[in-house]
Amino acid sequence: MKVLVIHGPNLNLLGKREPEIYGRHSLSDVNRLITDKAHELGIEVRLEQRSSEGEIIDLIHSAVGWAEGIIINPAAYTHYSIAIRDALAAVSIPAVEVHLSNIFAREEFRQHSVISPVAKGVISGLGPWGYIYALEYLYQMHLGE
Ligand code: DQA
Repeated sequence: MKVLVIHGPNLNLLGKREPEIYGRHSLSDVNRLITDKAHELGIEVRLEQRSSEGEIIDLIHSAVGWAEGIIINPAAYTHYSIAIRDALAAVSIPAVEVHLSNIFAREEFRQHSVISPVAKGVISGLGPWGYIYALEYLYQMHLGE
């Protein structure tokens, strides 16, 4: 099984960026947790971080014919990028939306996601472990096919 993991803007600063909200794990720490879990499950993962909307859309398009699942933390784009939502809908690869923080317990503008309607599900507030649960879900779903 192959899974594409996309980290959106500002997530390259994890560990240093508002640690009281996003935790002390750096992006490399998070990627290491994902890689270890992927290895355990026999999943091939491609881990990417992009700051711009267009590049995230290109990554989603590039997953066609390769990835059987997508894990995406669209970061701030979550709340307004119809273009990323449309890209996910267009490729119809099962996608799980992950947020480190609990967006539903934060500012009102963060409580709405334009991505969720095209995602299989959302994991929000479980820190880096959200990516691990997303990977397990995609794995189980793939097994059941
Ligand atoms: C985030 C939540 C977003 O509201 C925010 O813009 C981010 C990170 C999270 O992982 O909690 O950059 O997606």
